[in-house]
Amino acid sequence: MNADYQVEVKEAPVAPDPARLRVGVIGLGVGRMHIEGWQQHPNVDVVAIADPDEQRLAQIGETFGIATRYGRPEQMFAHERLDVVSICTPNKFHHALTLAAFEAGCHVLCEKPMAMNADEGRAMLAAARRAGKRLMINFSYRFSAQSRALKAQVDAGVFGEFYFGRTVWHRRRGMPGFGGWFGTRALAGGGPLIDLGVHRLDLALWLMGYPKPTWVMGSTYDAIARELAATSGKSFDVEDLAAALIRFDNGATLIVEASWAAHIGEAELMETRLLGTQAGLLHRNVDEGYNFDAHIFLDKNGAQFDMHLHPSAVPARSPMHDYAEAILNGIPHPAPGEEGLVVMEILDAIYASARSGEPVKV
Ligand SMILES: NC(=O)c1ccc[n+]([C@@H]2O[C@H](COP(=O)([O-])OP(=O)(O)OC[C@H]3O[C@@H](n4cnc5c(N)ncnc54)[C@H](O)[C@@H]3O)[C@@H](O)[C@H]2O)c1
Repeated sequence: MNADYQVEVKEAPVAPDPARLRVGVIGLGVGRMHIEGWQQHPNVDVVAIADPDEQRLAQIGETFGIATRYGRPEQMFAHERLDVVSICTPNKFHHALTLAAFEAGCHVLCEKPMAMNADEGRAMLAAARRAGKRLMINFSYRFSAQSRALKAQVDAGVFGEFYFGRTVWHRRRGMPGFGGWFGTRALAGGGPLIDLGVHRLDLALWLMGYPKPTWVMGSTYDAIARELAATSGKSFDVEDLAAALIRFDNGATLIVEASWAAHIGEAELMETRLLGTQAGLLHRNVDEGYNFDAHIFLDKNGAQFDMHLHPSAVPARSPMHDYAEAILNGIPHPAPGEEGLVVMEILDAIYASARSGEPVKV
């Protein structure tokens, strides 16, 4: 196993920023949760928001007491002096808006997926380095209490070397905004793999220590959604299910699966299992919802033990809180763009493999 390999994070600025951060949020769907997250930090002010949807802009502005509102992000960059920008638009716009934010001298918290593809991701990282600013990807599932508790056990060496894993997010029927941008390749870049799979893939990779991917073999399908789209007159040109086997240079393999539609019993199934030489872990959702469980399975003195994290054991923190702390204190932040790029490279390879029917080098 190659335990020496690590994703190289070339973040230049670790000097502390101003004592208070001025934040702008672009895109006000999940952007609403960014505002909530930022506003919970005592040294952060959300000073401006941007969204072309006038109704949403007004409603979110009223709810959170943000008076400075823009229909176009370009206007916001031109008129505001911001320290950090949250980019929460459809995937298509992540790349251009991130570049614009760096041009305007801001740090960026970009929603997942980082971009439409790895080329865009590389350009975003290059722009971050040119600007001397930070790029964090909102891999929000890392921040649950259960994820962080498992990561602490990984760091303590409980699992030995991870050699196999399976990480999935399946929905029986759960296409976000069926007929909208999520199901449109030109705006989303793909279907449930780039939408949901990206979270479970990052979670597994993060717990595994981001080993270097070498090959993938992937397949995508659209049997259920294609028919639903046809009968309801909605557009849909991405997959409804994707599955892939990823091989790493340390010999480990990981299976990733994601769907918006599948003939399964659960409405929503999120599950990540990683098997290590000394112990295994399971991170999964409870009761088909968005609360999580964390388990560890190991042998102790000849007996097999199952450990279960107590629900109150570790407090949850928001990605915005940790990013603010990192910027304010000049310390590394928890989800660097370099790791987002590795995810994009794997996704590109999975989609290429699905198209060609052949294994693809990452
Ligand atoms: N981390 C998570 O758990 C999580 C959850 C949901 C969505 N997301 C990601 O967040 C992003 C947005 O998803 P969503 O569910 O909020 O979508 P959404 O469609 O609900 O909201 C997107 C908003 O962006 C606005 N918008 C569109 N183009 C814009 C532009 N050029 N400039 C400014 N605003 C623009 C739209 O008017 C809309 O209000 C996606 O990348 C998605 O993958 C992440």
